[in-house]
Amino acid sequence: MPETLAVVNCSQLVTLAGARRPRAGGDLRQLSIIEDGAMLVRGDLIEAVGRRREIESLIKDDCEIVDAGRRVVMPGFVDAHTHPVFAGIRANEFEQRSSGATYREIAARGGGIRSTVRATRTASLTDLVKAGKRYAQWFLRCGTTTIEAKSGYGLTVEDELKILRAIKQLNAETPLSYVSTFLGAHDIPSEYKSRRATYVSLVVNEMLPRVAQEKLAEYCDVFCEEDVFTTEESWQILSAARCHGLGLRVHADQLSLSGGAKLAAELNAATADHLEHTDAAGILALKTGKVQPVLLPGSVYALGSSQYSPARQMIDAGLAVVLATDFNPGSSPTPSMLMILSLACTQMKMTPAEAVTAATINAAYSLGRGDVIGSLEKGKRADFVIHDCADYRELAYFFGIEHPHQVYSGGLLAFSRSS
Ligand code: NIG
Ligand code: FE
Repeated sequence: MPETLAVVNCSQLVTLAGARRPRAGGDLRQLSIIEDGAMLVRGDLIEAVGRRREIESLIKDDCEIVDAGRRVVMPGFVDAHTHPVFAGIRANEFEQRSSGATYREIAARGGGIRSTVRATRTASLTDLVKAGKRYAQWFLRCGTTTIEAKSGYGLTVEDELKILRAIKQLNAETPLSYVSTFLGAHDIPSEYKSRRATYVSLVVNEMLPRVAQEKLAEYCDVFCEEDVFTTEESWQILSAARCHGLGLRVHADQLSLSGGAKLAAELNAATADHLEHTDAAGILALKTGKVQPVLLPGSVYALGSSQYSPARQMIDAGLAVVLATDFNPGSSPTPSMLMILSLACTQMKMTPAEAVTAATINAAYSLGRGDVIGSLEKGKRADFVIHDCADYRELAYFFGIEHPHQVYSGGLLAFSRSS
């Protein structure tokens, strides 16, 4: 018999229950909160959700009671855009940026993504898994139970495969769930600088077939940007990925209006990510192409910029907005979705409820997992967090502290605060 848990005494059970589709417009504000709610979990699945009295009547003698202590209980965050497998850190570049250098200047000098590529190529699979486990712990203690994880710091066939294998191993050996994305087109490696077309054909003809054959990724992403991959090159790579059965995601309009949003729309990609420079036409294209925007305010903040993505216009246009950390060693070194909620509310003028929806159920849909995670409903995976507050708005309001008291992944305790 699988173990059963009864989670009781929740000040607010923030269920996010509702229509089985990504939430847009006014639906972003509907959190379906049950005051004094409770939940029954059997094995790794949610069996019942309701008011305390309804659930109490279902509790059997062998059921373990989890007393939430009048705290908020809600789904684990789903972080739909991360780069969590890399070697080394870039504190030196952080210091240079603090003295005025820009991200692009540092990249043009051979730093940025390329410096992490150099370190990652020399690391073994074991090294990468070891570092990755440390970051997995960080995500969990910040209340995240699923992350999308990109490759992209290898940029050779074997090094990209090594990163994707590390992601597979991390998924098997940690309580964090990973959805993997192949990002061989994260940058043109320095040895291909004057042979761009050759690198694009390496990605299309050698990397993608291996990734697909070994089933190492569900999605393919491309960094579509002025000094990186052009829209034509991005189109070539993403169309090939689609032929291999991969879903599509695009790093779009991050540093300039490069046409990435429109490209994502033409290709009916699952997501277009970043979008700091996207204009009204780009927003309309996303709507027409049914593309979910993934907004990454952590990278805007960490790069010292003030150009946040136009979240309000996107919500007004009816887009099913997603929020994510973009965790990586350069532009966004944070695993904290709570930090992202704070930035979304203060800098992009999303309401706390909209931000919570964007960080849970909408993120789950963007990863093709809307029917499995992202809300607390019967039949879904028991990924939930007990936050040490009584009102969910405190998650974005009190910033700079870690709210999670306990984190459960598939019905098992994955993190517990010691005091
Ligand atoms: O999403 N934009 C490209 N990729 C990352 C940056 C990665 C890095 O700087 O190492 C991003 O911001
Ligand atoms: Fe990114």
